[in-house]
Amino acid sequence: MPKTAQKATTRAHANIALVKYWGKGKGRNVPATPSIGLCLDALKTETTAERLTKGPDRFSLNGKSATNSTKKKLKNYLDLWRRLKLIKGHFHIRSKNHFPQGAGLASSASGMAALATALSAFSEKNLSKTEISRLARMGSGSAARSIHGGMTALPTGKDPVAHQLLKPEEIPWGMVIAIVNTKEKKTSSRDGMNLSKETSPFYQGWLRQGKKDFSEARAAIVKRDLTRLGQIMEQNTLAMHGVMLSTRPPLIYWQKTTFTLWRLAEELRAKSLECYATTDAGPNVIFLTHRKDLKKLQKEIEKVPGVQKSFISLPTLGAKIINKT
Ligand code: PMV
Repeated sequence: MPKTAQKATTRAHANIALVKYWGKGKGRNVPATPSIGLCLDALKTETTAERLTKGPDRFSLNGKSATNSTKKKLKNYLDLWRRLKLIKGHFHIRSKNHFPQGAGLASSASGMAALATALSAFSEKNLSKTEISRLARMGSGSAARSIHGGMTALPTGKDPVAHQLLKPEEIPWGMVIAIVNTKEKKTSSRDGMNLSKETSPFYQGWLRQGKKDFSEARAAIVKRDLTRLGQIMEQNTLAMHGVMLSTRPPLIYWQKTTFTLWRLAEELRAKSLECYATTDAGPNVIFLTHRKDLKKLQKEIEKVPGVQKSFISLPTLGAKIINKT
């Protein structure tokens, strides 16, 4: 039986989806569409969990006490681990995001991956990466992908777990993140997805297309075919935003600069700088390109009025425990 910790610190990175998860299936936070994500070194979360002698659990995010809704969400997540008899007792959880959260930069992926990995240090069961990925998914679908690092796939199914498609060093591409706005979104992904399922007239078509995009993207990744992968990523992103826009009331995440940046990707391709755009549930745009073109691409992005800042990010490893006592 493994020795459980008193205190554990973990590090996890967010992953940006090239093929998106948007919609819930039946079961405990089961995705309705299969997805593929790329773990990025610039999007880092560090979490420390410390055992308390008595309850209640305490939560602080970026040095401040968490808001009531975040506290509720996190307490529910710890309750789930307690109900599954994976952990006992109460904890003080402190988490620091080294990038803007709730602005469509997948902070829930790194946050939940870091938390699930921290909780695993307190478990009397020796949890494998696969089991931790399943548990992370129950907190946030995209977090299941951040457990493994590199290029990771999360299929659908009854109780899916993510698996790695490529290790970071096998990936010939990187991303440039263009920050348009860092304000937290009004509707969480979880609520947005449920609303889309209930009200978007395009939702069924999205589910069908998502499956096709997933298998075609996998084939392009195996061949290291950026052109095909980039096309699928853009089309898949736009289909997801089509569903978001047609949700009632609509989920409109794009801003003026978001459009300008998508046009920029098209213009740069015409000038032989091969890059492709994607946008999650927020206004920011993330570009996929060859590693060798990252700096050139960043220069072009920074010329666009409305871009607050940009940063280059490379594929990186999955979640890990960096300190345990
Ligand atoms: O894992 P969640 O609940 O934060 O949802 C993620 C939704 C998207 O970021 C829009 C897409 C994805 O697959 O990461």
